[in-house]
Amino acid sequence: MYSRKDQRNLTRTEKKRLVGAILELKRSGRYDEFVTMHRQYYVTDAEGRPRAAHMTPSFFPWHRRYLLEFEKALQAVDPTVSVPYWDWTRDSTPSSSLWAEDFLGGNGRSGDRQVMTGPFAFRQGDWRISGGVTDDRFLRRDFGRPSAPVTLPTKAEVDRALSDPVYDTAPWNSLSTTGFRNRIEGWGIRGTRGVANHNRVHRWIGGSMAGAGSPDDPVFWLHHAYMDLLWDRWQKAHPRSRYLPARKLPADDPQRDRVFARDQPMPPWDVAPSQLMDHTRIYRYV
Ligand code: CU
Ligand code: CU
Repeated sequence: MYSRKDQRNLTRTEKKRLVGAILELKRSGRYDEFVTMHRQYYVTDAEGRPRAAHMTPSFFPWHRRYLLEFEKALQAVDPTVSVPYWDWTRDSTPSSSLWAEDFLGGNGRSGDRQVMTGPFAFRQGDWRISGGVTDDRFLRRDFGRPSAPVTLPTKAEVDRALSDPVYDTAPWNSLSTTGFRNRIEGWGIRGTRGVANHNRVHRWIGGSMAGAGSPDDPVFWLHHAYMDLLWDRWQKAHPRSRYLPARKLPADDPQRDRVFARDQPMPPWDVAPSQLMDHTRIYRYV
């Protein structure tokens, strides 16, 4: 049992060890395997294939397991390390210690959006990116996307999502207009709402965080640890609510073979959402 901490409370040593473990995974090639896996599971609902990770009820359990695998890899390098979380409703400015030289580094420069500071800056020599949409091999960030400004979500927006007692609703994809899952995952719905919470944070950071290869930016893990914490909070707020759909959808439902019901095993681990509901014997949030 270990703790996942708020990144704002990490000591200088804890940051150093986390960064060191991440760089070691990068050096060994393990890190890029995680990025590749995320690209592989970036299936949209415009496709007919099963969706375990995104635009789907299993968004929370899939990423919980994905983070656990990453954390296990980190701990194989340094057993004292865990994935911290970034509460972007509190640490919501580019001057947050999260983006400092001794942690994740700052915004990208104007023009090519290349991150120039911190351990993941290209010029440090330890962080090369491959397989992206562009040929750029450097980490990119574009805070707030000045070309079409976007803001970080507020606490009120998160609270509104947390207050929905229903986990997810038909059509169980990016078009679900209510339900905790898509209120947090945050797909925009034409004429109803723009991108919200989780997706808006990817967009606010921009650059490498904006696409299927988003784990190329190490902030991905801190962002998703916070999503994982919010799932906890929702469960505590609605003790009588459960993951939906409870059972495999009926034969006439177009989503039947595309989404994962409570007890249906998800790839690549063959683990069902119901097996990932409780993490308290593995880690807890402090
Ligand atoms: Cu993802
Ligand atoms: Cu994400």
